[in-house]
Amino acid sequence: MAAFPEGLNEQVGHEFAASQQYIAIAVHYDAQTLPRLAAHFYRQAVEERNHAMMIVQYLLDADERVAIPGVAEPQVEFPDVVQPVRLPLEQQKRVTEQISDLAKLARSEGDLVGEQFLHWFLQEQREEVSSMGALLTVVERSKDNVMLIEDFLAREVVGDAGVENGAPPAAGGAL
Ligand SMILES: [Fe+2]
Ligand SMILES: [Fe+2]
Repeated sequence: MAAFPEGLNEQVGHEFAASQQYIAIAVHYDAQTLPRLAAHFYRQAVEERNHAMMIVQYLLDADERVAIPGVAEPQVEFPDVVQPVRLPLEQQKRVTEQISDLAKLARSEGDLVGEQFLHWFLQEQREEVSSMGALLTVVERSKDNVMLIEDFLAREVVGDAGVENGAPPAAGGAL
């Protein structure tokens, strides 16, 4: 397999791992009866799952091999209310680098169709890093009064609220 489709297969794993990590964070908050924080991460988990399935659809369309990978165990214990937001911010920054590297790889292989496919993902990463950064600011500011964080999330829309404009098609349909 050429390096680019190989890299996309790896990225499927990163997106599923992010999804699994977000479910773990959502459940952590849900167990503490913080329903707004939980809802935010349940929704993010679905988004990440959809990202994985968009890449799967691309590989199917490009007639490349798709190998659905297992994922590493997510972190399930968190020391405080802030860390479950700091962790995904770091994770999303890493994903931005991964997608950028994949776009450069597609370009170096002269695969302009593949490069174009990743443009939406680059745009999405700008949104993901920005919205997770904004949530981290709010959580750090109100870490001693978590109900203020809940109130904020009840009042404000953080991120794209699952509306992913111009998203590529996902295998089996986006959830
Ligand atoms: Fe993603
Ligand atoms: Fe998003």
